[in-house]
Amino acid sequence: MQDTHDAQDMPDMQGILQEIADRIEPLRGQGSVAAYIPSLGGVSPDRFGICVAMADGGVYGAGDWRVPFSIQSISKVFSLALVMSYDYDSIWRRVFREPSGTPFNSMIQLEADQGIPRNPFINAGALVVTDRLLTLTGDAAASVRGLLRLESGNPSLDIDPVVAASEADHGHRNASMAHLLASYGNLENPVEEVLANYFNQCALEMSCEDLAKSALFLARHGVSAGGTPFLSPNQSKRVNAVMLTCGTYDAAGEFAYRVGLPGKSGVGGGIVAIVPGRCAITVWGPALGPNGNSLAGIAALDHFTALTGWSIF
Ligand code: DON
Repeated sequence: MQDTHDAQDMPDMQGILQEIADRIEPLRGQGSVAAYIPSLGGVSPDRFGICVAMADGGVYGAGDWRVPFSIQSISKVFSLALVMSYDYDSIWRRVFREPSGTPFNSMIQLEADQGIPRNPFINAGALVVTDRLLTLTGDAAASVRGLLRLESGNPSLDIDPVVAASEADHGHRNASMAHLLASYGNLENPVEEVLANYFNQCALEMSCEDLAKSALFLARHGVSAGGTPFLSPNQSKRVNAVMLTCGTYDAAGEFAYRVGLPGKSGVGGGIVAIVPGRCAITVWGPALGPNGNSLAGIAALDHFTALTGWSIF
């Protein structure tokens, strides 16, 4: 499906991105870098990048938009999309799609809900999705990497093994969740394999440019970079809906209020947002607020939708 908006709707995107970079300047470095994964702790909190990839092919960027960073939980969008592409919607028997209102790494609801995670974007739900992808493909992290290489057009983007190992060495909460899921029969593969795939997919390194191009199928109603359907329009709508309601965890209400777009954050400081029919936007600012979302990134997206008027509301 093509972008249904006229070229005359197109604002001065390069000027808007520069304006956003100027406006977020006072926020640079405010918040804290995700040091619970020690190898992420060394990233400079002052970095800021923004990229917009348009459905019709135009790409615009400002700041550090070509600097690779750890995509972390943003990978969960792509693992979910892959599972849906292979398996349509059988994943929804193993994970709910309700906002949790709890932090991304909370386990508090998992026991009460008998091992069914609230949604695919909290860590518990993402482990179930990765498990399913592992069953379907034999290598979940490699299939996420393959999708991202194809969609971004960057064949050299890769997993940072140091980040993956650093998270594995400190991944006690994720390991606990995986064992709890297994105790309820909600994993198909051995806990250690699921965890290794999950840590690897989170440790993919990509720039704002790579990520915006990779997420563009969600703005193109499921159509891949190659022009063929990757997801159906209906599936693409569903992934966007879950991003809107669950993509920023216990700050999803605030994100919808401020930004008004489907979005998915990662503790590497990246956020991907989608304007259906128009574009994918990626922002990166490694310093995080209390909910694990980039402070400068959310402010930048807030400015973006205010300056362009491009929101789903
Ligand atoms: O599992 C973790 O804790 C990390 N690999 C990913 C968490 C994350 O990115 C949460 N997002 N804001």
